[in-house]
Amino acid sequence: LHVAVLMGGWSSERPVSLMSGEGVAKALESKGHTVTRIDMDRDVALRLAEAKPDVVFNALHGSPGEDGTVQGMMDLMGLTYTHSGLTTSVIAIDKELTKQALVPHGVPMPGGRVVKTEELYARDPLPRPYVLKPVNEGSSVGVAIVTADGNYGDPISRDSVGPWQEFDELLAEPFIRGRELTTAVLGDKALMVTELRPKSGFYDFDAKYTDGMTEHVCPAEIPDEITQACKDIALRAHQLLGCKGTSRSDFRWDDEQGVEGLFLLEVNTQPGMTPLSLVPEQAKALGMDYPTLVEAIIAEALQ
Ligand code: DAL
Ligand code: MG
Repeated sequence: LHVAVLMGGWSSERPVSLMSGEGVAKALESKGHTVTRIDMDRDVALRLAEAKPDVVFNALHGSPGEDGTVQGMMDLMGLTYTHSGLTTSVIAIDKELTKQALVPHGVPMPGGRVVKTEELYARDPLPRPYVLKPVNEGSSVGVAIVTADGNYGDPISRDSVGPWQEFDELLAEPFIRGRELTTAVLGDKALMVTELRPKSGFYDFDAKYTDGMTEHVCPAEIPDEITQACKDIALRAHQLLGCKGTSRSDFRWDDEQGVEGLFLLEVNTQPGMTPLSLVPEQAKALGMDYPTLVEAIIAEALQ
């Protein structure tokens, strides 16, 4: 096959996408496919039209490669591409829209609300501890945990360093104590549950992409009931949102509350494919090596 691998772009996750894309490109070459690497810029439509690939492997993260924009462009061009389509991407990139789509179907997600950044300087939107995050970023970019000890000021000070300085509105959610879990879906199957144990702090950008900063426990050492619940919820979310190919659902689990303490945080429609990424790790634990996973994602697109 001739595969165009779309990577890079200009989101805050550009470096992550370059790692995902290069990994995918090398894997495809190792399997004898012809690869055109495309570092996405404003001329991406032109470059794709010139390349005339059989299929596009979308290795972009963040906007506009994960939010439906690039998907819509490729629909218009009549290109076949991996991962989710336009509508799914628009919803899943937005953590608030995702809740509106999934919670009415009984998927457990944290409460909370979107707040104008200005409001934060007047009062806390929720009782502390709570989490502030941009509605549509990935890799924990711009996430802050506001704790009871008055970090960032009380109320949050305009001058303290945090996402309020960069985003006009933020999603505020209650902080869920306990553990960080994630489950990949490939095709119509939930793979495994991994627990992420950052060596310090929380599973932020550095903990995600610096080797040795987070312990990955796969399969997670948790009760069978929780493993099953993660898999059920991940597959259900994937199907309700209409995801294609692969997705990865991230959870917090309050281990003092049993299954009642399990909450889906978000569904990633363009999950990372870097050497430290979780979908490849779960596939490997099930006996599927990285190049075979890449081919499986392409096979899903060609169906
Ligand atoms: N947003 C990153 C790439 C992930 O979900 O893996
Ligand atoms: Mg994400």
